[in-house]
Amino acid sequence: MTQRITIRRPDDWHLHLRDGAMLKTVLPETARHFVRAIIMPNLVPPVVTAADASAYRDRIMTALPEGMDFTPLMTLYLTEQTDPDDVAAAYADGLIHAVKLYPAGATTNSQSGVKTLRNVYPVLERMAEIGLPLCIHGEVTTHDVDIFDREQVFLDTVLAPLRRDLPGLKVTLEHVTTSHGIDYVREAEGDIAGTITTHHLMINRNHMLVGGIRPHYYCLPIVKRAEHQKALRAAATSGHPRFFLGTDSAPHLDGAKETACGCAGCFTAPNTMSCLAHVFEEEGALDKLEGFASLHGPARYGLPPNEATMTLEKREEPCTYPETYETPEGSLTLFDPNVPLHWHVLT
Ligand code: DOR
Ligand code: ZN
Repeated sequence: MTQRITIRRPDDWHLHLRDGAMLKTVLPETARHFVRAIIMPNLVPPVVTAADASAYRDRIMTALPEGMDFTPLMTLYLTEQTDPDDVAAAYADGLIHAVKLYPAGATTNSQSGVKTLRNVYPVLERMAEIGLPLCIHGEVTTHDVDIFDREQVFLDTVLAPLRRDLPGLKVTLEHVTTSHGIDYVREAEGDIAGTITTHHLMINRNHMLVGGIRPHYYCLPIVKRAEHQKALRAAATSGHPRFFLGTDSAPHLDGAKETACGCAGCFTAPNTMSCLAHVFEEEGALDKLEGFASLHGPARYGLPPNEATMTLEKREEPCTYPETYETPEGSLTLFDPNVPLHWHVLT
């Protein structure tokens, strides 16, 4: 018997679209399934001012193929020079929907990020006043902290004190990867939510490291032990409104991944919805997929859920995808779910 589910069309609350040739290749892969997405600002140079965000939004709309409907929700990259007035004006204009905090050195193109959090308090105070969400890459960058512990240490030493100082600030802890992060988001007081990526639901560090090192599974925050993957799956499928989808689909050319010092990021936009249906079915929670992918995010960002629907059908034959996508600058490898995917997106 074929099984079908119909949900409101999803949005992606954390997405890297890049720029130029890469943007042209990856944008249709998101727009095919997602109506809206929060667009990460870590370009080179980063999207730091309202003018930068407006110009980037124009480039995205120009790259969108005719007939496709997609709304980019822009963000600003927080730096120690960010002007609170510029941020507030961009929010009042409806141009931006969040500001992104990268601790300097935490990940790809984060070198212009924040070194001393105190220096951005005037911006954060203004954001708390006007209700503008702060999206946080939640990892410390100190060299003596093990890469697998960086999220947990961040919660205790950075996030908790920050939220004590600014209890009115709306915070999204992005790409939660540990049970500690899940517990924090579920239990903390005040205005907090957490996004969870496709790949952190599908794989753990064994998939990345056992039997050979798989550069296409390398991302940041790095995938953790299986017990953390289990906690992420439990949270995503729990129906709790504080947890929702942010794919963190982060394409890099194969040449930049398959090298002695490879870039972090998994390109998951094309097969995310099939992966999610797979995970939610395995967890016996297909009825919670719509909340995670299509309802909790809009509620959090004060936007209406999408009216249009998406139908997924489970078939005997697995989905087929190209292994790689071509850009004029080189190829780009799709996230390998490591299992056959049987949930096909019909519409
Ligand atoms: O894996 C990642 N890739 N994590 C990030 O935080 C950034 C992203 C990127 O831009 O490539
Ligand atoms: Zn990201």
